[in-house]
Amino acid sequence: MFPKATLVATVSLALLTSANPIDRGTGSSIPFAKRSGLTTEDGIFDHQRAIISTIQTHNKHRRNLMNLQANDAASMSEGAEVRPLRTYDSLDKRQKEATTDEGSDLEWAGTISIGTPPQEFLIDFDTGSADLWVPSTNCTQSACSSKHKYNAANSSTSAMQSGTFSIQYGDGSTSSGPVLTDTVSVAGIKSTGQYLSAVTSLSSGFAADPLDGILGMAYQKISTLSHPPFVNQAKSEGSIKDAVFGMKLAHTGSELYIGGTDTSLYQGSVEYHAITGSGFWQISGASALVNNKTTNSGFQTVIDSGTTIMYGPPSAVKTFYASVPDSSVFDSTNGFYQFPCDSVPPVAFNWGGKNWNVSAANFNLGQTSSGSKYCVGALAGQDLGLGGNVWLLGDSYMKNVYSVFSFDQNSVGFAALS
Ligand SMILES: *[C@@H]1O[C@H](CO)[C@@H](O)[C@H](O)[C@H]1NC(C)=O
Ligand SMILES: *[C@@H]1O[C@H](CO)[C@@H](O)[C@H](O)[C@H]1NC(C)=O
Ligand SMILES: *[C@@H]1O[C@H](CO)[C@@H](O)[C@H](O)[C@H]1NC(C)=O
Ligand SMILES: *[C@@H]1O[C@H](CO)[C@@H](O)[C@H](O)[C@H]1NC(C)=O
Repeated sequence: MFPKATLVATVSLALLTSANPIDRGTGSSIPFAKRSGLTTEDGIFDHQRAIISTIQTHNKHRRNLMNLQANDAASMSEGAEVRPLRTYDSLDKRQKEATTDEGSDLEWAGTISIGTPPQEFLIDFDTGSADLWVPSTNCTQSACSSKHKYNAANSSTSAMQSGTFSIQYGDGSTSSGPVLTDTVSVAGIKSTGQYLSAVTSLSSGFAADPLDGILGMAYQKISTLSHPPFVNQAKSEGSIKDAVFGMKLAHTGSELYIGGTDTSLYQGSVEYHAITGSGFWQISGASALVNNKTTNSGFQTVIDSGTTIMYGPPSAVKTFYASVPDSSVFDSTNGFYQFPCDSVPPVAFNWGGKNWNVSAANFNLGQTSSGSKYCVGALAGQDLGLGGNVWLLGDSYMKNVYSVFSFDQNSVGFAALS
């Protein structure tokens, strides 16, 4: 559907895990329970980590909505509202630390360079935010100690800009730092006037994380910096012909392709859907299916590579699980449901074209506890403030398809992985 780009590039996404690699030879207790970052190596649902992940997702989108309200309030979805910051305070401290230490989270990361000469950083490519930030050499906190740090003085193309970048996190900490511009290079594609922040204060929540920073790939409308994100800046400078990127998130061969799509990674055509204009990669007309039967329809979905699982409004998710045999609420506070491990529901989403299946491995977050015959589902009920009819589809959905994001056509597309 899109003309083939003349200038394209790929970034191989390393699948990171700071825990020991899985020993596939020994076999785990639940063979279909792939590690999602929320599943332990024994195939058990990591409840504490799932709660923290949910709070982080809540706070990330809270910030997006605050930015949207400031930048373009008129394009907020119906019922969208900035919800209060959620904190981890209520969680048991010991368990929280144990979770952090395990560090079994999986992320989709790749290397980018900033500055002249180039300084390298390991980055999370996030379609659910729109700012670029990395740690600064001026960050003296322990959270920064293991990170690659940006040294502005060593870059001949660095230029300080006005303003301060600041993000508040649910553990009570804040990441903040000055705003500047420099040359940023992703897979050989350059953006010379790229706005970013070099944070001098880094949330302790990032300390155990192997990533240095985040590169947001949604629209400027939801950005804190209020300047074009990387792909848009690269297009405006003529570094890429098409402001389009494709993503494959998988255990092997993950890839971000900028400037078009990598046709070797999918088969058939890409099914495109126009976005709503909210600043998110948000498409409407969605239906959810269980066992090939529609459970919910006419809702909107935000496609977010920076979110691990899937969330829907609590009442909608309750309706969804009503069609999953023998399912029930597992954690009412956090919206998690359980179902029998030996019959993972066949789940799919549909936007008026094909049914896009979510595999059993991607829907199942693992047993509720060791020896349990119930497993937790990767769809949870949460009011994230995104709108009364808006679901958030993260990696649990994206791992099933090849996803295409087009700023040129203002659309999101899906294709079958090859
Ligand atoms: C660090 O601080 C110094 C002195 O305030 C400043 O000149 C420099 O640009 C800062 N570096 C970064 C990466 O912000
Ligand atoms: C930055 O500059 C300092 C002093 O000029 C030098 O010692 C250091 O190695 C440089 N760092 C990098 C990453 O180039
Ligand atoms: C799913 O339902 C549709 C009609 O709603 C039917 O055409 C299709 O064959 C069904 N698929 C399966 C796998 O049962
Ligand atoms: C999707 O799942 C259904 C079972 O619910 C299956 O019949 C169908 O073949 C699957 N489609 C693809 C493309 O895998």
